Amino acid sequence: MNSNNTLSENSIKTLLAGRLKDLPVYFYEETDSTNTRAKELIAKESLKAALLVANSQTNGRGRVGHSFHSPMGTGIYMSLIFTPESLEKATHATTKAAVCVLEAVEELYGISPQIKWVNDLYLNERKICGILTEAVTTGPNKGSLVVGIGINFSESPVPEDLKDIIGFLPSRPDVSRKALIAKITSLLLSELENLEDNSYIKKYRQASMLTGKDITYFENDILKTATVLDIDDEAGLVVKHPDGSTGTLRNGEVFTLRKALT
Ligand code: BTN
Repeated sequence: MNSNNTLSENSIKTLLAGRLKDLPVYFYEETDSTNTRAKELIAKESLKAALLVANSQTNGRGRVGHSFHSPMGTGIYMSLIFTPESLEKATHATTKAAVCVLEAVEELYGISPQIKWVNDLYLNERKICGILTEAVTTGPNKGSLVVGIGINFSESPVPEDLKDIIGFLPSRPDVSRKALIAKITSLLLSELENLEDNSYIKKYRQASMLTGKDITYFENDILKTATVLDIDDEAGLVVKHPDGSTGTLRNGEVFTLRKALT
């Protein structure tokens, strides 16, 4: 394995400079899910912030019950624990994280993926990143966030059923997983320390993959179709239905249509 690709607690720590130099880092060669490990940690320890990283996951979890394919050595599987003053604005954590990943990729690779509302990043119409944020309200912290980020960093075999979905970041010998992890951690901690500040939404809006697209989604088990108009200041998806009525989706999953609705 390319030594630039190796991950360890120390190799990550050496890239965390300044105010991040005391950030606790937990590294796992293999674990079920860094989000699950993070939640266990929060349940027993008082922690303002910590970073958990794995080289592979056996049960990587995604939103709405999806799994996250997490093979050894080719992806980034990280969870950032953060305990804010209040969880009131925590609804922005996932969308803030999407912008942080986008900005980190822009800075290190000079390319701009798109954000598929609400928690995915896409490059060339393939998913390269998913984000799962979970809140823990019990235990010594009484209100912490776990922001889990999974990135398909370098090309690896993909199960047949994911072949049309999964994409990868381009291969760049000068960009390592640890450098991308450190950049995302630094950007994301700043955003989480300022949960009230939603100026990030401008960037999220600019990068929105769904704006102008026709989508489907389920509302109370009923399949709806709509056209995406915008992202609002609270990161909701503003849509227009075929009958002309408008609405704002706050959570859930939406699907793109390959062909425009007529
Ligand atoms: C999604 O695609 O819906 C979100 C995927 C989130 C995957 C990351 S990988 C690190 C962390 N641990 C998990 O089990 N999930 C998140």
